[in-house]
Parts: sequence; C-alpha cells; structure tokens
Amino acid sequence: MMSWSELEKACLDCTKCALYETRTNVVFGVGNKNAEVLLVGEGPGEQEDLKGEPFVGRAGQLLDDMLKIINLDRKRNIYIANIVKCRPPKNRDPLNTEQDACIDYLRGQFRLLKPKIVVCLGRIAAMRLIGENFKITQEHGKWFEKDGVQFMALYHPAALLRDPRRRPETFVDLKELERVIRETAPGTYLIP
Ligand code: URA
Repeated sequence: MMSWSELEKACLDCTKCALYETRTNVVFGVGNKNAEVLLVGEGPGEQEDLKGEPFVGRAGQLLDDMLKIINLDRKRNIYIANIVKCRPPKNRDPLNTEQDACIDYLRGQFRLLKPKIVVCLGRIAAMRLIGENFKITQEHGKWFEKDGVQFMALYHPAALLRDPRRRPETFVDLKELERVIRETAPGTYLIP
C-alpha cells in the first residue's frame, strides 16, 4: 500500500486523462489525515485549480459555514477530497471516463484514512460512491451502510447558492450528520 506522500506524489504527476492538459494545479485533498470523517465533492472549480485546494471558492466558503454549524473544521477534524482531482474545463460535470481514470486516488485516500463516515457533497459524488441511481432530492440526509462505513449525501454547496430554498433541509441533514458522528466517530470532536 502506498503512503500518503507516495499517493500524493503519484497524483500530482498524473497524466491518466486529458484533464492534466488544462489544469493549473492538481487538487489532491485537504484536512486531517487521521480524521474519521471524509467529505467528497465532484471536482475542482476555477479557484480550486488556481490554489490547489478543494472548496476555496464561493461554494467553499458556504461549505466552511455549514461545517462550522456542527463544529467541523477542514484543517482540524475532517478530510476533504474530490472524485476527480483536476478541473474539468468550464466546470462541466466530470465524464465517467475521467472519474474512472481518477478513482484509484480516492480509493487510496480511503484506504489510508479508513473513515467511519463518508459525506458525499452533491449528486455526482453520491452517484459514484453510494449508487448509480442515487436521487439527491429524495435521498439527501439518508444513511447507507457499506462494509461497515456510513455514507450520506448533502446538497452540494453550489446547489445551495443557486437554490437557497434547500437550505432548511440541509440544516436538518447537518444536525443528523453531527448526531451520527457523535455516536460513531466521537473522536472527531475530541481533536483539539
Ligand atoms: N466543488 C467541488 O465539488 N469540489 C471542489 O473542490 C470545489 C467545488
């Protein structure tokens, strides 16, 4: 098994799909490499590509606000990654072929982290990690168990920016997430 630094090096040098040709930076991930909670988005946008860090644009600011409501912090007690590590041009959805080319990096992150809880941010991540027929409008906030790991999806923060009417439901989902973290991964809240 690769170490974190070997995996990150391989990812930063990756040319497995055409997205490498247009990227500024690979966006590997951010957070605590001992976290028990993993958040997964779909792929970097413009700001993320420029900075090399996930969720640093407007949607990222909202994500930080959402996390704060339940005492989570990107640098302290969770880890954040994406399905694809390089920006799709014009922020289009990542193609299945691009996801297939990239997914082993997320698998590697998953093996190293061994999270107890995985939170999919938006439908692309949920369709990839929970099930191909996942319906975000019906199934956000619900739990799905796979091999002893608890998965749930939240609306993507960019979707909440576009449609603020979904925010009250997301508040309920966040409180449910906090409840299950306290039950299943209580160490999350003990990290200073
Ligand atoms: N949206 C995502 O899904 N991931 C990011 O890193 C930024 C925006």
